[in-house]
Amino acid sequence: MATIINQADVPKIKLYNGVEIPCVGMGTFGSDRFTPDQVSNAVAGAIRCGYRMFDCAACYGNEDQIGEVFKAAFDEGVVKREDLVIMTKVWNDMHERVEESCRKSIADLQCDYIDVFFIHWPFPNYHAPGCDVDSRNPDSKPFTAERFMNTYRQCEELVEKGLIKYIGISNMTIPKLEAVLPMMKIMPVACESELHPCFQQQELFDYLVAHKIQPIGFMPLGSPQRPERDMMPEDVADLQTEVMQEIAKAHGVHPALIALKWAHQRGQIPIPFSIHEMEYTSNLKCMTEDPLTQEEMDKIVTLECNNRLVKGQVFLWPGANDWHDLWDEDGFIVE
Ligand SMILES: NC(=O)c1ccc[n+]([C@@H]2O[C@H](COP(=O)([O-])OP(=O)(O)OC[C@H]3O[C@@H](n4cnc5c(N)ncnc54)[C@H](OP(=O)(O)O)[C@@H]3O)[C@@H](O)[C@H]2O)c1
Repeated sequence: MATIINQADVPKIKLYNGVEIPCVGMGTFGSDRFTPDQVSNAVAGAIRCGYRMFDCAACYGNEDQIGEVFKAAFDEGVVKREDLVIMTKVWNDMHERVEESCRKSIADLQCDYIDVFFIHWPFPNYHAPGCDVDSRNPDSKPFTAERFMNTYRQCEELVEKGLIKYIGISNMTIPKLEAVLPMMKIMPVACESELHPCFQQQELFDYLVAHKIQPIGFMPLGSPQRPERDMMPEDVADLQTEVMQEIAKAHGVHPALIALKWAHQRGQIPIPFSIHEMEYTSNLKCMTEDPLTQEEMDKIVTLECNNRLVKGQVFLWPGANDWHDLWDEDGFIVE
């Protein structure tokens, strides 16, 4: 029989506005490898095992299938709408038409409103699904605070209209945050960033915490099934490092669960993805038992090696040098 995790046992994270959300969510990016049906079946199983938060996105191409699953869960009385935290994101080609994108996600997800609505990337640079790493869109543009705020203002209007509860941002850098936070009327509750043991982004993490923006860590397991375009020979496989293997052995679990415990104990919300019941169930259950020791936490800190996996080449604009330009590594915005 499937394992069901008691809601009361799942730790909660308090946002700056006092609202509490679960300490882990389920990712839903099929990664060019899993079909929408595989992903939505996993969402159905995950609701039943006790997940209450789902990280969706318009560009994952599976919101209508996931919406069928949400509707069935509501109709069958498995959960009520207000029990779920549904997150989704506006894709780069809809930055001028945010309300339209939001309304489509709400219709597809059959969920009446969105809990946290993210700006997926801070620039309007579109690439086709499944494109390869050398693909470039000649219409791509560098980030500017004005363009970003034009999109963000539309999100603020969605809060005012009741279509979304809270705003989220994603794939940001400290220089970009410095430029836009002072212009916001409604502060974002959360920021999604790539965060895993070999890519901890400590400075960004500290900046978010200091500004009361909850860090959400995507690719928390180092995304072993990520698309080909995001695989480079120099990438490190987080879960295969000696430190992760040793700690996993000491706890008698898969290193994936060590990465998730580390994420939670550090203070970020991981959003692991899996279509396998055994995996997604243990990804939730591990939050309820057997924490890491301080010594183990300290050992994982030493794994940091700037192992950025989503480099973002496909978002580069004409005239940009290389993917480093997307991440403002010298402390100023590359325009
Ligand atoms: N905001 C953004 O720009 C952004 C970008 C990327 C991702 N995301 C979000 O973050 C989510 C997570 O990222 P991700 O899916 O790329 O990577 P991930 O969660 O780090 O890795 C997922 C893979 O890890 C394996 N796995 C999962 N649980 C496991 C377990 N308990 N034991 C062993 N292996 C396990 C599975 O591979 P196998 O199938 O081989 O077992 C699965 O395909 C996405 O689904 C998406 O919602 C957001």
